[in-house]
Amino acid sequence: MKTVRFGIIGLGLMGREFASAAARWPHLPEMEVRPEIVALCDQNLKPAEWFQRICPTVGQVVSDYRELLANPEVEAVYCAVPHNLHAQFYCDTIRSGKHLLGEKPFGIDRKANDLINAAIAECPEVFVRCSSQFPFTPAVQHLCDRIDRDAFGEIIEVEAGFLHSSDINPDKPINWKRMLEFNGEYGCMGDLGMHPCHVPFRAGWLPANVRAVLSNIVRERPTASGERVACETWDNATLFCETTDSATGRTFPMTLKMQRIAPGETNTWYIDVLGTRSSARFSTKNINTVEVLEYDGRQQNWQIVDIGHATAFKSVTGGIFEFGFSDAILQMWAGFLYELHHGKPLKRFAGCVTPEEVALSHRLFTAALRSQASATTERVD
Ligand SMILES: NC(=O)c1ccc[n+]([C@@H]2O[C@H](COP(=O)([O-])OP(=O)(O)OC[C@H]3O[C@@H](n4cnc5c(N)ncnc54)[C@H](O)[C@@H]3O)[C@@H](O)[C@H]2O)c1
Repeated sequence: MKTVRFGIIGLGLMGREFASAAARWPHLPEMEVRPEIVALCDQNLKPAEWFQRICPTVGQVVSDYRELLANPEVEAVYCAVPHNLHAQFYCDTIRSGKHLLGEKPFGIDRKANDLINAAIAECPEVFVRCSSQFPFTPAVQHLCDRIDRDAFGEIIEVEAGFLHSSDINPDKPINWKRMLEFNGEYGCMGDLGMHPCHVPFRAGWLPANVRAVLSNIVRERPTASGERVACETWDNATLFCETTDSATGRTFPMTLKMQRIAPGETNTWYIDVLGTRSSARFSTKNINTVEVLEYDGRQQNWQIVDIGHATAFKSVTGGIFEFGFSDAILQMWAGFLYELHHGKPLKRFAGCVTPEEVALSHRLFTAALRSQASATTERVD
């Protein structure tokens, strides 16, 4: 078993998910490579105690990420910090020669993402990927296998989205994810946007232009001390894209939705693909199932296919058992380490988001901001 020694920068919500996934690695009996967490960094070191309890291999705990990057023990870094820090932290990580799984949006804006891409171009020996876990859900893998088999025929229309209600309470105190300075002009697109883009972009469905409608629904929020302050980030975004299928050159409409205020949703990731030969739809609300519409020449029959735990990377969990968020995180990490170790993903849709796919998301979100400002359709260039 090959070991890759990791440092974690950012010991918040997502840092915890990686530490837990690494501790659960025996769940993946066929992996030939495993992560070992040897260093931790956060400006606030209080959460480090929990990490040290579950990661006995940690030998360094620091509040300055540059000390972690200077540690020769660390071969790879997981970075999960606020968006305003992505450019500096990711560029420094890449230039230190350490592999990187970075959290989206990979730069607070397009300029920041360009800086990260320049560092990647300078260091071709460093493996860099962006996090996005939902496509690793077995039912989504089934849908993606259908894309690989060209089961849909010509694509008629695609809709994908990530909807939650984390901000539905107008009295929820403001935090960095609702502040322009830390979250950026993209608002909910920076926070949620990569998630619905991952499968379409990997499929080669590339937005050529976009008409975006962005909403700032809750414009004021209390601070922790109760004072009400402006909340200027976009809560919800709907992006209508004329999209080219790079395999056929044909165009079709694609709608991408990212919403922080979606009544009735807690954390719903979904994708609907309509094609001339067959169609399919998936939502995390029905995590085990994918609906498939086959045409038999006479009738159009929606079938519900129950997938269970048929993961891309074999798991010790029984095949009939249901899948969850932390399972998707574990599978995504398997995807990152497999690709790092073997030099290619296990299969097309079992790899993390590439820097090229992230760069396309930045071109799309930047065009979406222009579209919102001018109320016109904007080219994604
Ligand atoms: N893949 C997903 O599903 C998913 C979900 C949530 C968040 N995210 C992404 O993960 C990243 C982090 O989000 P989170 O929810 O974990 O946030 P969080 O606020 O829970 O954690 C961020 C951590 O970064 C630390 N930090 C801030 N400044 C720092 C500095 N200068 N040096 C070191 N540490 C510093 C904070 O103290 C905090 O512990 C963001 O990019 C976000 O978009 C991804």
